[in-house]
Amino acid sequence: MEYKIVEQHPDLVMELPIAYIAEKKIQQRSITPAYQTADAVLYNNDCLDIMTHFPDNYIDMIFADPPYNLSNDGITCHAGKMVSVNKGKWDKSKGFEDDLNFHEKWISECRRILKPCGTIWISGTNHSIYQCGFLLQKLDFHILNDISWFKPNAAPNLACTTFAHSHETLLWAKKDKKAKHVFNYDKMKNGIFKEDKMKVPDRQMRSVWSIPTPSPDEKVFGKHPTQKPLALLKRIILSSTNNGCLILDPFNGGGTTGVAAQIIGDRKYIGIDIEKEYINLTIKRLTSIRSQSNLF
Ligand SMILES: C[S@@+](CC[C@H](N)C(=O)[O-])C[C@H]1O[C@@H](n2cnc3c(N)ncnc32)[C@H](O)[C@@H]1O
Repeated sequence: MEYKIVEQHPDLVMELPIAYIAEKKIQQRSITPAYQTADAVLYNNDCLDIMTHFPDNYIDMIFADPPYNLSNDGITCHAGKMVSVNKGKWDKSKGFEDDLNFHEKWISECRRILKPCGTIWISGTNHSIYQCGFLLQKLDFHILNDISWFKPNAAPNLACTTFAHSHETLLWAKKDKKAKHVFNYDKMKNGIFKEDKMKVPDRQMRSVWSIPTPSPDEKVFGKHPTQKPLALLKRIILSSTNNGCLILDPFNGGGTTGVAAQIIGDRKYIGIDIEKEYINLTIKRLTSIRSQSNLF
């Protein structure tokens, strides 16, 4: 098995899977990280392949932003211009049954590798979120919340035939209903969330979050077509992980989850993406955060 170890660290996150593979005598396959530091590992592969290498009950929190399957050659509005909705070939629907089958495979694997007290977040729009919600229930997860991420600056609806799409849904679920999961209630109630015009200071955090889409300074290293805002991922990580937690994003994209985890600090991160371009973008973002933190 080959590894590119950029820094030696006593808790290298990938040591456990090697032991696991030996113990279970499963066929060894080469999984070489595209990037690895003491607290972040990136794989440029299919997440279904990589996750099979992880032990059972291994991950504390998963944030998954799977393909929405909305790239249907339609049009949308971006920066005041009419543009194609297509995000890439990874976002094309393969039909209802195949899409459902894909979601079932990765959600089942996430269930196996999550700790009993672990939680999973899945984001999506109407194109994908009902299938994912159905599967969470089918696979015996316990749904904790469905959050509406309201985008106050969402693009207008050009065709004027429906309401303007201005939110996405985030499902938050735990593996085992009886296990005690992490929820940092006080940090959510009393924290400062300047970007959110709906959060009332010192009142409970509600299930509708108003957060603008990513600002240009979050895209200085390049663009991902469905990049999530850092404020969204920071809130998710702060609310549902503690220091030392291991976070996995099987659909890493531009790496927003890893960047947010590094900014918050004291978390380990594993990101997987099938597209090399997005792994390279993530490496640039993570390297920039590391060099900034080394200055202080
Ligand atoms: C909705 S985007 C994630 C965006 C990300 N949350 C961000 O903030 O940048 C989904 C990502 O999943 C990747 N992807 C699609 N199918 C995949 C698979 N089978 N395994 C790993 N990555 C995959 C795509 O390349 C794409 O970057």
